[in-house]
Amino acid sequence: MKKVILSGMQPTGKTGRLHLGNYEGALKNWVKLQNEDSYEMFCCIVDWHFLTSGFSDTDGLKNRVKELAIDYLSAGLDPEKCVIFIQSQVKEHAELHLLLSMITPTSWLERVPSFKEKVEELGLDSYGFLGYPVLQAADILAYKASAVPVGKDQLPHIELTREIARRFNNLYGPVLPEPEGLLTPFAVVPGIDGRKMSKSYANDIKLADSDKVTTEKVMKMFTDPQKIRKGDPGRPEICPVYSLHQIYNSNHEKILQPCRSGTLGCVDDKKDLAEHINRSLAPIRRKRAELEKNPDYIWDILREGARKAQARAGQTLAEVREAMKIDW
Ligand code: TRP
Repeated sequence: MKKVILSGMQPTGKTGRLHLGNYEGALKNWVKLQNEDSYEMFCCIVDWHFLTSGFSDTDGLKNRVKELAIDYLSAGLDPEKCVIFIQSQVKEHAELHLLLSMITPTSWLERVPSFKEKVEELGLDSYGFLGYPVLQAADILAYKASAVPVGKDQLPHIELTREIARRFNNLYGPVLPEPEGLLTPFAVVPGIDGRKMSKSYANDIKLADSDKVTTEKVMKMFTDPQKIRKGDPGRPEICPVYSLHQIYNSNHEKILQPCRSGTLGCVDDKKDLAEHINRSLAPIRRKRAELEKNPDYIWDILREGARKAQARAGQTLAEVREAMKIDW
């Protein structure tokens, strides 16, 4: 039997659209994994997780979900090779979340680092927010996923999923396998201000940005603060423009010498980078333009994905109910 891989993203931000950091750090890896024959892949849009913090901001949710799905597809996720679906269209996630919540001590949830941070940062204190990792465990365990491709920040959630699965199996018998985190070979993508690229810092470049907007953003990028004008020597190793060259420009080594000596100025260097980024993203952006013309197609794919996901999650839930002796 094939191993199952499951991952998910929240439809967050004003538009739901993904940036280069999301792509390089996660989505690109998913696209690769869907092509491996030994895996069966499920890619989820976790709209219920979005509600744990975005409950008062649901007007644009439908559009955000659609935009995220367009990013998934235009980046190369193929509905023939992986199951793409919306979490809330598969009610089994909610049922499993409820059942797992019965066996999860609140102390396990209170010590999750993202919980403590968000409580302080955003003042979130709802019951649903505390249960965020239980819902994530339900997403994963409903498919008996053995691997979950995620960033490092998610490892505490995977560990908790393993603990919940173990507790379930001790109480009711061996039904739920313990998943492993599959760390994405991490590409650190700096934003235009040099900090980590993030929606919340407003320093990102979106997959969906036009060439023009991309170029404008790149031209505003921070560089080595000691390189003020052309002629000043630069330090590529601390320059976010150079970090992006390393990702998007296969000839990036050729920049090192002229940057260090000062013969290459930042303005020319940025123009060059913008061209490289726009060239690399051209196929993704073309695909997006096509998909945008046909929103019905997107919703069809998501509905079909939910049908396939539900078939699988339904089997697991039948086993879970039987093990818990609530299969009336
Ligand atoms: N918590 C994840 C994040 O913020 C999103 C997520 C929800 C997820 N359910 C999941 C990721 C299941 C992997 C598997 O990125």
